[in-house]
Formats: sequence, C-alpha cells, structure tokens
Amino acid sequence: MRRLMTPRFSPLEGGLFSSVSKADVGEGAGELIKAGVDVMAWADPFFPDPSIPASVQTVMAEAVASGLPSHYTMPIGSADLRGVIAGKLGTRNGITADPSRNILVTPGSDSGLLYAMMPFLEQGDEVLVPDPSYPSNFANCRLLGAVPVSVPLRAEDGYQLDPAALEAALTPRTKMVLISHPNNPTGTVFRRDTLEALARFVVAHDLILVCDQAFEDHVFDNIEMVSPATLPGMWERTVTVFSVSKGLGLSGFRVGYLVADDRIMDVLYGGAVNVLGATSTLSQIGAAAALKDETILPAYFDILDRRRRLAHAAFSAVPGVRMQMPESGILSWLDIRALGTATEVSAHILRTARVLVNEGEPYGAEGAGHLRIVHGCFMDETRAVDAYSRIAGALQLLSRDSQLLPA
Ligand SMILES: Cc1ncc(COP(=O)(O)O)c(C=O)c1O
Repeated sequence: MRRLMTPRFSPLEGGLFSSVSKADVGEGAGELIKAGVDVMAWADPFFPDPSIPASVQTVMAEAVASGLPSHYTMPIGSADLRGVIAGKLGTRNGITADPSRNILVTPGSDSGLLYAMMPFLEQGDEVLVPDPSYPSNFANCRLLGAVPVSVPLRAEDGYQLDPAALEAALTPRTKMVLISHPNNPTGTVFRRDTLEALARFVVAHDLILVCDQAFEDHVFDNIEMVSPATLPGMWERTVTVFSVSKGLGLSGFRVGYLVADDRIMDVLYGGAVNVLGATSTLSQIGAAAALKDETILPAYFDILDRRRRLAHAAFSAVPGVRMQMPESGILSWLDIRALGTATEVSAHILRTARVLVNEGEPYGAEGAGHLRIVHGCFMDETRAVDAYSRIAGALQLLSRDSQLLPA
C-alpha cells in the first residue's frame, strides 16, 4: 500500500517492518525501559519520575470532582488558559497578545509546530533549518512537500546562527526559516544581535519565521532570551511555538500554544477544529494552574542549572569528548568523533552503562559523530549523577581503546 501513498509520507518507518533506531518511534524505548535501561533519550525533564507540582494536582483534582473536564473546550483552547498565556507572554516574552485573536492552544507543541507550517508551505518550497536542530524540523518540511535546507551551526561559533550562512542558503524558492530557540540539541540561545540579523534577513526576503521556543524557560548565565516576534517587522511574519512540556516538566499534559498576528491566526483558528480537534480539557486546566504558579520555574531552574554543570564536568573530562556548557534546558551535546561513530558509541554506552542516549544524525548532517544526552532526567539527583558517571565510564573505555587515555 505504500505505493499508493505520497512520497512525502511513504518513507516514514514506525518500526513494524524494520528496526528503527529512534528512541521515540513505535515501541522505541518502551522495551528498553522494561529491561531496566535508563532512558536519557527523551527530552522530558525528570523522566521517568512524577513531576506534577502539588498546586497543580489540587486544581486538577478539584476540576475532576466538578465534572467539567468531561467536555471539549473550544478548538482554539479554553478562554481561561488563553488569558493566562496572554499574561505570561506579556511579562516573560514582551509580546502583547490578545487572547481572542493571537493565541491558539494545541495538543502539545509537536502538532502545533506542524500546524504552524501548514498554511505557508507548498510542494518544492524551501525552508532554512539550522543544522543541527530538532529532527521534526527537517521531517515536517518533507511531510508538507517542502525541502529543508540545512544552515550549518558551528561549534567554533558557539552554535550561533551565521547570517552569511543564511544568505548562502537562500534561493528564489526559500519561503520560511524554522528555528528552535533555544536550540535542541545544542542548547544554544540565539543572541539578540544574531536574531536582529535574522529578522532583517526574513523581512528583506519576504519570508515567514516559525520559532519554536519549547525550551525557553531555563536559560542560564543571565543570557537574554529574546523572542524574535518582538523584533521590528517580525510580529506580522512570525509564528511562535510554545509548550508546557519542557520548562514546567509537564510533557504528559500535551499542551502547547501558538502565538501569531491575527491575519495569520485567522487561518489557524479556521482550521483548528478539523486539524487539531481540541486539547484535553483537564490538561488545559492543569497547564493554566502550572503557568500561574510562579514558584515552579525558579525551583526547577536551580536543579537544572546544577545538573548541566555536573553533566558537563562528567562528560567533558573524557579525552576525545568535546562538549560546550549547555546554555539552557536539559540537553548535553557531545562531539565524540574521536571515539567512533554515533551508532558505535551509543551502542557501547547502552551495553556498558545501560543508558539509552540519542545518536546525532537525526538532528541533521552536522549531527554525525555526536550524541545527545538528556541530563535533565530523574527527580533524584543521585540517580542522575550515577547515570552520568556510568556514561562517562563507558566513554573512558573507548578513549582508552583509541589510545587517547593511558591504559
Ligand atoms: C525543540 C522541541 N520542540 C517541540 C517539542 C515538542 O514538545 P511537546 O509536543 O511535548 O510540546 C520538542 C520535544 O522534544 C522539542 O524538543
């Protein structure tokens, strides 16, 4: 039947007929978890431990008792949640958004990301995608018939976007720039000057920017987190994608939201019921409670700031591993080219340390020879640190074999 499918979908593999090495496809990591492996390959803070704050639990329990969540909200999201989001956008993002015209709640930001791109892309359109970046950024373009065009991010530039590389990738078919900011997997926070150059580029060439800010909540070292939608000329040509999964550790709620100018949003509102349905009513109630509780993010910030330092100390001490200090979030990005291919090294870590990590290739051509490790896993820090040292131990063995380390 694949022959009857479009070439946009038919290359997809869910692991039913061939093995797929992605942790989040098909049964993926599920079987390994059952076998006692630590999964540090899902960008899911504190996974697999419970992380619903008490304040949120109370609100959700009361909502269940009231019976209200048995029914749909409007497909664009509950008015209550959109109101809370508008407040958050004003105080934290510097974005003035009308909750009835500029905000759309989505069932997770993954669906929001694809939906944000759908109105703009036609067969053959080109989308500039920083490389490495979130695998969906490449895959979603292909699903929509568009062509993702890699814009390399270099370690020596701190993985910042290079305006000259954007210009070099531009063609008459370029329609969109798609960024994750902060970037997954490098954790890079694009700086104001970089984003201003990007904004000038987008405006000058009449492009659309889709900016995924799923990882915006924990930016370290006092680095400024700029939302590109606030830059001159960008509000009317940017769709910004947000999530409660990463910063608030509530991935299981499946709540994300899109923010855009009302001329874009009118179309997205128009298709919301048939494309997205509506987001879980109970989850929207929980997400609103979490966004209102101003104690959650600072508490997680301290934990994750410590974790990134511990992870960096453990991994970067291994000869042959190169790693920059993560600027945000929960992800470590390791250059392990001196030790082997990502497939070899991740298989060795799985065998020796009993930890599943991500191979770099799905993050783009620049991901070859790299690993992504989700150091923000586990509530219990001793468990996290134990996993870091098992991984580091496994890497040391390879280092020794490669004669980078004395036997
Ligand atoms: C950069 C980025 N954006 C979006 C998502 C999707 O998150 P969710 O659908 O849980 O909101 C992910 C998940 O890993 C991600 O890494």
